[in-house]
Amino acid sequence: MLTQTELKQNVAQAAVQYVLPFLTPETILGVGTGSTVDIFIDSLAPHTSRFRGAVSSSERSSARMAALGIQVFDLNDVQAMPFYVDGADEIDRGLSMIKGGGGALTREKIVASVADQFVCIVDESKQVDHLGRFPLPVEVIPMARESVSRQLAQLGGKPSLRSGIVTDNGCQILDVSGLSISQPAQLESRINNIPGVVSCGLFAIAGADVVLVSTQGGVRQLK
Ligand code: 5RP
Repeated sequence: MLTQTELKQNVAQAAVQYVLPFLTPETILGVGTGSTVDIFIDSLAPHTSRFRGAVSSSERSSARMAALGIQVFDLNDVQAMPFYVDGADEIDRGLSMIKGGGGALTREKIVASVADQFVCIVDESKQVDHLGRFPLPVEVIPMARESVSRQLAQLGGKPSLRSGIVTDNGCQILDVSGLSISQPAQLESRINNIPGVVSCGLFAIAGADVVLVSTQGGVRQLK
């Protein structure tokens, strides 16, 4: 029986094998955030001669890549990237996701929006029939925390301030439990429109393009 860490190692290595054939000395990769991505970064590091560098979705991933000799680029200096590789907290059959468990949802959404292909790397515990058991992270401007919370409560959620966290953007995170997410893209759009919301952890309007799922029987690819 593989442990969750071993499942993450397998999918991280599969993601490296997935992108390697497409890398050129000019390629810039988009790199997400989290424990699965940490292993992806470690597995990518021996191949630095095969690509130019990466744009990161967090200070955490930037520091890890820099320490391993992967050149980190500012997104403002990059016009295109073939892949954005990142984990997820939940992913459904339509490849919509909840992300932001690590608090990096806004930068993740921004970097992903520039990439041609979002490659989601998860172990099988992240696959769900319906999104919402994992509390939905919503990044908010601090002065709007209470007003946004009231509107999220009107949508049926129970927002809770994530304590001790200031995001890379100087904002706060509300973790919203109890939401019934039957139409993820509509809910994402509604939450995005609440004044004071920086971004919400639903990735449904633009979900994953490919998912690599690590199972006890190997890594499977879903599109
Ligand atoms: C960070 C994220 C991560 O992708 C998500 O939390 C999954 O993390 P892990 O790979 O550690 O399970 O969205 O904001």
